[in-house]
Amino acid sequence: MPNHQSTKEQIKRTADIVQVIGQFVQLKKAGKNFMGLCPFHAEKAPSFTVSPDRQMFHCFGCKKGGDIFAFWMAYHGLSFLEALKDLAERYHIPITEAFSPSEEKKKSRLRETLLKINEMAALYFQRTLSDAETGNPAADYLKKRAISKEIISEFRLGYAPDKWDGLTHYLEGHKIELEKAGQAGLIIPKKGGGYYDRFRGRVMFPIFDLRGHVIGFGGRVLDTSLPKYLNTPETPVFHKGEFPYGLHASFKAIRQKGLVVIVEGYMDLLALRRHGLDEVVATLGTALTAEHVRKVKGYTKEAVVVFDSDEAGKDAALRSLPLFLNEGLPARAVVLPDGHDPDSFVNAEGLPKFLALLRDASSMFDFFLDQKLKEKGSGIERKVRILKEILPVLSQLRNAAQRSLYAGRLSERIGIKEEVVLSELKEIKKNLSSGALERDLTGRLTASKVEKKIGDFQLLNLLVHHPEAATRLKDADCGTLLSDAAALKIVEVIFEKYRREGRFSPENLEENFDNEEVRTCLREVMVADSIYSDQEVKQAIQEIEEKARQKRFADSVREVKGDPEALNRLLQKLKEQGPPNL
Ligand code: GTP
Ligand code: MN
Repeated sequence: MPNHQSTKEQIKRTADIVQVIGQFVQLKKAGKNFMGLCPFHAEKAPSFTVSPDRQMFHCFGCKKGGDIFAFWMAYHGLSFLEALKDLAERYHIPITEAFSPSEEKKKSRLRETLLKINEMAALYFQRTLSDAETGNPAADYLKKRAISKEIISEFRLGYAPDKWDGLTHYLEGHKIELEKAGQAGLIIPKKGGGYYDRFRGRVMFPIFDLRGHVIGFGGRVLDTSLPKYLNTPETPVFHKGEFPYGLHASFKAIRQKGLVVIVEGYMDLLALRRHGLDEVVATLGTALTAEHVRKVKGYTKEAVVVFDSDEAGKDAALRSLPLFLNEGLPARAVVLPDGHDPDSFVNAEGLPKFLALLRDASSMFDFFLDQKLKEKGSGIERKVRILKEILPVLSQLRNAAQRSLYAGRLSERIGIKEEVVLSELKEIKKNLSSGALERDLTGRLTASKVEKKIGDFQLLNLLVHHPEAATRLKDADCGTLLSDAAALKIVEVIFEKYRREGRFSPENLEENFDNEEVRTCLREVMVADSIYSDQEVKQAIQEIEEKARQKRFADSVREVKGDPEALNRLLQKLKEQGPPNL
């Protein structure tokens, strides 16, 4: 048995999976379940299902699924124990049992330690900033950049003093293992032994995960020296490009507005927030990633990306188009007037002017074409180049209606006949042997498999949705009717449980299986509707019993073939039992 069973049960009884997942994924009621866009793979039509009755989730697209713990682990990238602790804390449930020793435990211990050290460092930087003497240069700097006291405290800005051992000394004084602080990326080992501070003489921006833990830092110099920004390196808790900066503070506003504004820098985000625009996140100078988009699309209907007016900014805009298309998140693009970034613009012109830019922003697709049409080259040469660049992106769109819509717009904008665009598109799609097509196909195949399974899986459906049927079905030896190995495994476990405990409930049934295919099969039956109404159950049981009897008869006839004596015995037996209704 897994450990922490009682804590786990308590959490499951207290927490509602729809509410928990609903914080991260937009869910809509669909029958008895809720549906949304899967946060674990790219999709534009919802196949991510949450069942309040079963307290489980399942994605029919990528097959990820399980209970509230499985979601928390997958979404936040945590171990089971970390998820357990998180949820226990949220729902005020004490963890009573001792943690079991394991590799997983070691890893989660390390991550916990690093988060704790990050938290201490954040406090140290904050305290240093508010110290009248040491913090003065940084406080002056932030004032100069129009960052308010409220923003400083909400985003927990701090200052790393211009010393080699400020934080090192502080952590030592708090009995922190310096080697661990090194693993957190805060201090660096010296050649001759000992450590020195990574961040010196910098304004410090803690970077938070969605739970509000400090996972890393960015630090900015106060002058023009280089590098301008220094970030925490990759650590067990910090992975570049995983979280957009500021999402922990912005997600409520993003959901309320149905809009997320994506900017590049710390300062851009903080400036916009100071002016009262809360629905904003920052990519921190790296290109937008699929992870970023997946993390925000759970909260919003639309994204507006604000790019710097320089070449790098435009380039980033162009590269982000396929991401948005593939994740099915409508996006628009804003390019600021020359020389401006969002921070300088909003401070110079005010929020209303910035909002006007957002309002007038063109779609990412049109923006892409605009930029491409501005590029050098003669008419035809340019058109061909544009087609070559954009058609592979369009061909990856899994929604055919959308594909032809964009093809139409493309033909209109660059002045090439729609038939030509469409036939080129078809050609590319035909030759596209990449993952996109494969996923497309897989999607279609699994969809039909599910439908077929329902016929094949009526027995499993009956057992899971009407557990009381187990009594009779177990005696009918109906396992013989199943041809699918996964279904057979599940039915066997159900009957075994029934034999041992005199009852069985589908709750927690998944825990009995290690095999992912079996678990997927079970989840799909669990979140599906019951095929039989309460009135139909009796009839269904009779039908299944009858089928099992026929199957047994057919099997035994096959066995006795060519053995007259055995055949006689069989016929004798049949006389006693009555014939099967063939
Ligand atoms: P300010 O000059 O403080 O307004 O910064 P900015 O945000 O306008 O800087 P910029 O537009 O140059 O860069 C945008 C984001 O890219 C920054 O917020 C950083 O997250 C990141 N970045 C910029 N320069 C560096 C650098 O030298 N090193 C690293 N690691 N990141 C950088
Ligand atoms: Mn700036």
